Amino acid sequence: VILTSSPTYLGAIQSFKSYRADIQPMSGWKEDTCGVSHETLKKAKFCYVIPDFQNPSGETMTITERQALVDLSRKYGFVIVEDSPYRELRYSGTPVETIYSLAPERTIHLGSFSKIFAPGFRLGWAIGPEELLDSIYVCKQSLDLCPPVLDQYLAAEFMSSGALDRNLKKSIAYYKEKRDYMIALLEKYMPEGVSWTHPEGGLFLFLTLPDSIDTVSLYDKALSAGVAYVAGSFFYPDGSHRNTMRLNFSFLDKNKMENGIKILSEVITH
Ligand SMILES: Cc1ncc(COP(=O)(O)O)c(C=O)c1O
Repeated sequence: VILTSSPTYLGAIQSFKSYRADIQPMSGWKEDTCGVSHETLKKAKFCYVIPDFQNPSGETMTITERQALVDLSRKYGFVIVEDSPYRELRYSGTPVETIYSLAPERTIHLGSFSKIFAPGFRLGWAIGPEELLDSIYVCKQSLDLCPPVLDQYLAAEFMSSGALDRNLKKSIAYYKEKRDYMIALLEKYMPEGVSWTHPEGGLFLFLTLPDSIDTVSLYDKALSAGVAYVAGSFFYPDGSHRNTMRLNFSFLDKNKMENGIKILSEVITH
């Protein structure tokens, strides 16, 4: 059994499914068992979460929610996998302690250069307890021996030369403007009944539409009109929430973004 937030990262769902894992979504962090039965919690091997500016929702777990998850993991003995590739991309609010810092003995913290160096660079890092990392080394060796050495040298140079810090400053200012602009456009154009998240960082906004709208069926119509999104239900392990969608705000220039949001609101309205 693997526990996940709901929604959660599509790539993780696909990877867990390829191992035929029993994926059990948690309903939130408020109830004492996060909406999962005692029996399931007892069988859980690990819980996979994206606590900072989640993909797809953009939301961030509060310190109370992180602590509640840590308490649950200590009670039932499961490991926490904290996948945090967006952590460095914070545009407002204050950073929340990592889950790893709350429970270093039972958390694997994952980071990535893909969002802070070059898109799709696909080199990352893992921090965690020695015995879990030892198992990861063995597994990684059997998959691809190790990440390309040239890529590792590039990342090391990127960090030691100070370019990472300079680039982060630029990226944060650039993405913040994009986030604010997309939220302003949604406020201007979206019809009543549509709501969206207000992320403090990351790359995504998550929209909830009226229940009667199915974003999977709507996709072809939107694409023919010239706008693309990812249907939100793909991020729910059980395929539910068909009235949601994920939008990316980091990529498009302002003109295309305005045009896209205008078209999207028309497609939703008609
Ligand atoms: C939550 C999450 N984890 C992992 C990844 C993949 O990271 P990488 O590019 O390092 O493979 C992504 C996005 O691409 C993501 O959103």
